[in-house]
Amino acid sequence: MIDDPSIEIGEYTYAHMEYLEGERVIRSLVPYSFGNKRLIIGKFCSIGFGTQFISPYANHQMHSFTTYPFWHIFSQKETMDPWLKDAEAKGDTIVGNDVWFGRECVILPGIQIGDGAVIAARAVVTQNVPPYAIVGGNPAKLIKYRFDQEIIDELLKIQWWNWDLDMIIQFHTILMGNDIDKLRSVASP
Ligand SMILES: CC(C)(COP(=O)(O)OP(=O)(O)OC[C@H]1O[C@@H](n2cnc3c(N)ncnc32)[C@H](O)[C@@H]1OP(=O)(O)O)[C@@H](O)C(=O)NCCC(=O)NCCS
Repeated sequence: MIDDPSIEIGEYTYAHMEYLEGERVIRSLVPYSFGNKRLIIGKFCSIGFGTQFISPYANHQMHSFTTYPFWHIFSQKETMDPWLKDAEAKGDTIVGNDVWFGRECVILPGIQIGDGAVIAARAVVTQNVPPYAIVGGNPAKLIKYRFDQEIIDELLKIQWWNWDLDMIIQFHTILMGNDIDKLRSVASP
């Protein structure tokens, strides 16, 4: 459904959109999406309803005397460039694979979220999130890690999301369990 070149969403990632359809889906998921900065989301992510990835261009200028967007409201195009330049100081927003976003999360611009992370319902994510961390609150803080570091390192090495789909489907019951020996045995037989 997404034909915006600044947005890249990996295979099998899905977002729960309830009553939204067509263009409203992307307007809700990525409000203020214009300009060059990118939103890159990996594969097999689950995105709860109302979650929003805020584009850097959503930020109003703050070092100027006014934050009011004259370029937009009064079509004063000459003041648009400095606004865009400010926004571009924030990097791309990059989400790994197999990340679960609960309902109504807000992800601020330029954030990086690692593989396997969980973002709690209504979290406002203002800092990078390490792989397999669970974060929540406003501003989002670490609640806990999903696994011990040893297991996390192994999962990051296995990268099951990059297997062929046939293999993923064949072994999905192992992926939906938490027996690392079983996962090891199919990952490197
Ligand atoms: C984050 C989440 C997965 C944690 O689940 P859990 O491991 O069972 O968590 P617990 O209930 O044991 O809570 C663990 C801690 O996290 C806190 N916490 C849980 N959910 C939180 C949230 N949304 N925001 C802030 N803190 C939260 C709890 O207060 C608790 O803190 P404490 O240890 O200081 O008491 C869950 O609370 C959540 O937000 N799920 C999202 C559900 C959703 O939105 N689904 C939509 C469909 S995809």
